[in-house]
Amino acid sequence: MNIAIIGTGNVGGALATNWSKKGNTINLGVQDKNYFKGQELLKNKNTSVYSINEAVAKSDVILIATPPTAIFEIIGQMGDVSEKIIIDATNAVMKSPEPYKTVYHALADKTNAEIVKCFNTTGFENMLNPTYNGEAVDMFMAGDNEKAKSVARQLALECGFDTCIDFGKSDKVELLEKFALSWINIAIMQGQGRDIAFKVVRR
Ligand SMILES: NC(=O)c1ccc[n+]([C@@H]2O[C@H](COP(=O)([O-])OP(=O)(O)OC[C@H]3O[C@@H](n4cnc5c(N)ncnc54)[C@H](OP(=O)(O)O)[C@@H]3O)[C@@H](O)[C@H]2O)c1
Repeated sequence: MNIAIIGTGNVGGALATNWSKKGNTINLGVQDKNYFKGQELLKNKNTSVYSINEAVAKSDVILIATPPTAIFEIIGQMGDVSEKIIIDATNAVMKSPEPYKTVYHALADKTNAEIVKCFNTTGFENMLNPTYNGEAVDMFMAGDNEKAKSVARQLALECGFDTCIDFGKSDKVELLEKFALSWINIAIMQGQGRDIAFKVVRR
């Protein structure tokens, strides 16, 4: 796949690294090509840097991993996203992209892309390495578009997650952000540390 990474920090960097190892072409879409977080990602295979508009034009899949409030500026720079898949990995924990509750909702209202919420529910360290004691943990997703969900699931498996559990349609996107807040609560607020992850077990 050709994947644009908008937001090349902790989350964008972890996912770009794993996806490049699996042979995907990674197009980093940045505000300033001479100064951006994650410049070391250019040492990864199949990875180049472009403006946001150029990276989107070259890609079928777009990852958004920025502060949520940046989404309006990004929508203004992406250009035509029809028939492209956008994966929203953001969490509006501190500040929502008003008047929308989440970036997913802003994208759904302002673009005609195929959108999925995924890669927001755990720490970036788990996106880089989702294996605990030889066992892979789970990723989770939500949204209305089945094609986007199937691509997100494939990309979660390429990172090494065991499975990508479907939380449901867009009415479950806020629940998925609350689930992320649950991870933040246990890992950070309750002080259990970031080496902690969720897995669904069955009898
Ligand atoms: N950290 C985690 O473990 C984690 C886990 C799950 C979800 N999340 C969510 O993922 C998102 C990113 O978190 P992070 O920790 O990866 O953040 P980060 O390391 O601070 O990186 C943020 C990235 O966003 C870019 N950015 C900021 N404003 C932008 C704009 N207007 N246009 C384009 N790019 C812009 C920054 O670009 P510059 O390099 O140019 O500054 C930087 O590359 C947040 O919404 C967060 O809630 C984080």
